[in-house]
Formats: sequence, structure tokens, C-alpha cells
Amino acid sequence: MKSKKYIINTLLGMFFATTLFIVGCSSTQDVALAKSGAQLWGENCVRCHNAPSPTAFSDIQWETIGQHMRIRANLTAQQTDKVVEFLKMAN
Ligand code: HEC
Repeated sequence: MKSKKYIINTLLGMFFATTLFIVGCSSTQDVALAKSGAQLWGENCVRCHNAPSPTAFSDIQWETIGQHMRIRANLTAQQTDKVVEFLKMAN
């Protein structure tokens, strides 16, 4: 009898742990999408080289660089737009 209860508790535990895990992942995704362009720039554009100064390039150049670095940094289109918007605003 004791072991039956144990199994049920374990299954319930696994169910809640999985639910929490899924909820946790989706909220992390939301937080990632809610990040500002400046934040995304600071976190992603320093991984391979120094974060380039926004003043180093013109708006048109940032558009092109954004597309190149989007693939390298593995960003979504939305995140890239934010970074590029930030760079164009700050140059
Ligand atoms: C996975 C590594 C990686 C990440 C992440 C990365 N870069 Fe780069 N970046 C490179 C490499 C390699 C080069 C030089 C070769 C080239 O230009 O493609 C470069 C070159 C550049 C240059 C020089 C101009 C040019 O086009 O050559 C700029 C500006 C730049 N990156 C901006 C950024 C920005 C902004 C981000 C963030 C969105 C970023 N990088 C993220 C690897 C990376």
C-alpha cells in the first residue's frame, strides 16, 4: 500500500515539475523578447569582439551589419530590429 502512494506521489511530482519547467521556459522567452535593443546589444555583440560603438557606423551601414551579425549572434528578426534601432538612435 505504501508503495502505491509513493508511485502516485512521484507521478504527481513529475507532472508538476514538468509543468513548472514549461511555464519557466516560456516566461524566459518572454523576458528575452522584452529586452531593449541596448540590452541585447550589450549581451550579444560582445561575445566575439568588443561591442562596436554606435557612432562607428552610419544608419545604412548598421542595417547591413545587423543582417550579418543577426546570423552570427543567432538573434530573432525582432531582436535584430531592436539592436539596429538602438544603434541608429545612438549614432
Ligand atoms: C558569433 C560571433 C559574433 C557575434 C555574436 C557578433 N559578431 Fe560582429 N563580427 C563577427 C566576426 C567574425 C566579424 C568579422 C568578419 C565579418 O565582418 O563578417 C564581425 C564584424 C563585425 C563588425 C565590423 C564591420 C563588418 O561588417 O565587418 C561590426 C560592426 C559587428 N561585427 C557588429 C556586431 C553586432 C552589432 C553584433 C550584435 C548584434 C555582433 N557583431 C555580434 C562575429 C560576431
